[in-house]
This record gives sequence, structure tokens and C-alpha cells, in this order.
Amino acid sequence: MSIGKLVVTGGYGFVGTNLILAAAARGTDIVVLDDLSVGDGQYVKNVSHRLVEGDIRDRDVVSQALDGADAVVHLAAHTSVVDSQTDPEHDCDVNVRGTMTVLRGCVDAGVKRFVLASSNAPLGEQIPPVDEERVPKPMSPYGASKLAGEGYCSSFAASYGLGTTVLRFANVYGMYSTHKSSVVAKFLRRIQAGEGLVIYGDGEQTRDFVHVEDLAQGILAALQTPDAAGETFQLGSGTETSVLTLVDLLRQVAGGDVQITHEPERPGEIRRNWTDIGKAQRILGYQPSKQLAPSLAQMHEWFQGQRAEVTESAIVSPTVSPTVSADDFMDADEEEAVAKRLRDLGYL
Ligand SMILES: NC(=O)c1ccc[n+]([C@@H]2O[C@H](COP(=O)([O-])OP(=O)(O)OC[C@H]3O[C@@H](n4cnc5c(N)ncnc54)[C@H](O)[C@@H]3O)[C@@H](O)[C@H]2O)c1
Repeated sequence: MSIGKLVVTGGYGFVGTNLILAAAARGTDIVVLDDLSVGDGQYVKNVSHRLVEGDIRDRDVVSQALDGADAVVHLAAHTSVVDSQTDPEHDCDVNVRGTMTVLRGCVDAGVKRFVLASSNAPLGEQIPPVDEERVPKPMSPYGASKLAGEGYCSSFAASYGLGTTVLRFANVYGMYSTHKSSVVAKFLRRIQAGEGLVIYGDGEQTRDFVHVEDLAQGILAALQTPDAAGETFQLGSGTETSVLTLVDLLRQVAGGDVQITHEPERPGEIRRNWTDIGKAQRILGYQPSKQLAPSLAQMHEWFQGQRAEVTESAIVSPTVSPTVSADDFMDADEEEAVAKRLRDLGYL
């Protein structure tokens, strides 16, 4: 099944950039709807696409972007757990009203397929491996707003016949992520800046790191699989990797000494987390194939190139604004923020 004309909201961000490159390689007709608050499209300058600049909450902008569209991948979001805790109304406005506006626009424009970028944040703390059958228990407003988006997907499928699919991304890593605060990007930036790494506890806590190119193939497969309509899928690597293993691999690819400081384990930190990708494998034919070690080496080289470019042109602020992303729900800072909030509320 061909995708037809594809609209990618938030197409200039980390996942969007990689998705556009993968979709363009298949000859897809692409429209990006982005307000340029984070991404600026610098990495897809040479890829054929049309930009509609604006906010996903603006109905006119959305209808302009969706005119004639067959499919939508909705990536644009407020992505900070920490900020969602300090300003839950704003998080709700962008993630719930924004998603609603795009869904409404899809119905009005006769769009056939809609994919929502969700995360493991709606699930909250669960015993791994996490799968689609778990009862969600979000621990942050961000997780709740993503869960609301999932609910609206289900309701728009039932009420209006829109072919919605929810994809819950694990910890995404890969190229074009210099602005992200996910653990891989953060550790790489610190190593390249000659700064040490802090490991909380024994470092045996585990995470599921999925390469963004594998993820992009999973998104495209969801758009092209008729049986994916009305369904939710966990998209991860299906592999459990400890923080110590990640740090060892980063040490090897970066070479030289990396100073590691161990600090006490933090209350509320999730010990193990990884994803059961069986449903995505069965229905979408999803087969993540990227190996962590060579992918980290490629990222390291690219990040260094970016650092050199920024230094050479003496740009003080990066062309892509740094964000504190919540999407990597297991990120150390974010876990700490959730734990702090729970402590403040007297739950821990
Ligand atoms: N990166 C991850 O590890 C991860 C994990 C789970 C889920 N997700 C989800 O995947 C999606 C993409 O994440 P990402 O890492 O590419 O984020 P990102 O911050 O790199 O990109 C988001 C893009 O959306 C645009 N945007 C933000 N608010 C907008 C608005 N109101 N209107 C229009 N455009 C807007 C930004 O300019 C940016 O280009 C998000 O929905 C996120 O919650 C990401």
C-alpha cells in the first residue's frame, strides 16, 4: 500500500528529520508542518518537501497543511516532563488541544491514515518488558497528555472512521539529536566536552535504546499496514541494555579517558525497562536491525562534526534550540524530576 501525500507535524525535529529522509528515499510526497520552535529544517534542505510554518493548534494552518493529504504522522509536541510538571496547562494545550486540532483537520480533509507519536510515559512504572496490554498509569502531566492523545485516536477511529495508529516509542537515539537531552545524546555531548559522567547507583539499571532509523521504518510500516489502523504498538529495540554497558560502549567509541562518578541510587528511579516488540513484529513486520556499538560510533563522529562547525563559525547558540526532552522517559534528570514531585506530594 503506497503512502500517498504525507504530512509530518514536527517534521524538523529529531525523529521528523530522520522520518523525512526515510520517506523521501521511497519517493513520498512530503509536507512538513512545524512552528520552528525547535527544528529549523537544516538537515533536510536538500530533500524535496513543502513547509507549512505554524502551530498545530491553529486550525487554519492545519487545514492548509492537510489539504490533499492521504496520511499524517503527528510528531509535534511539548516534550518536556520537567516543564509539564511546572506548567501542566501548557503541556495539555499543545499535546491535547494540538492533537485534537490535527485529528479534526484530518477528518475535515478526508485523510485516511493518522499515526500518533506516543511514548512509554503513559505507562508509568511497570515491570518489563512493557507491552500494549498494560494498564497505563502516567506519572507526569506529559504522560497524561500523551495518554489523552491515545484516547482521542481511539475515539476518532470509532466515531469518524479515521485510520489511527498509536506508536509508543522507547528511548530513541541516533543522528540529528544534538539538541536532545536523552541519555545517549547527553552522555556523548559531555564526553566530547571533556566532562565526566555521573552514574546513579550501580549502573545496572536497564533501558531500551531504539535507533531512530529503525523507528522511522516502523512508522512507515504502520502507515502502510491496513491492519495497523485502530491499534497501538510498542516500538523499541526489544533489547535490555544497562547504563554500564552504554557507558562502556561510549568509552570505546570516544577513546581516551572518561571520568565516571558514582552517586547514590535515586529514590523513584526505575530499575529495569525494556520493550516487548512482538506485536509490531507480527503485524507491521517491524525488524529493528541497528546495533548499538556501530551506531554510537557513527553518532560520535557526527556530533564531533557538529561541534567543530559550531566552533568554527563561532555561533554561540546552536541552530537547533536545546530542549529538555521528556520523550526519553527514563532519562536520569527526568526520573529525578518525577521522583522529586512524588516526594513533594508525599508518595515517596
Ligand atoms: N525522541 C524520543 O526519544 C521520543 C520518545 C518517545 C516519544 N517521542 C515523541 O516523538 C515526537 C517527536 O520527538 P522528537 O524527539 O523528534 O522531538 P523534537 O523536539 O526534536 O521535535 C519536535 C518538533 O515539533 C516542533 N513543534 C513543537 N511544538 C510545535 C507546535 N505547537 N506546532 C508545530 N510544531 C511544533 C518543533 O519545532 C520540532 O521541530 C514527540 O511527539 C515526542 O513526544 C520521542
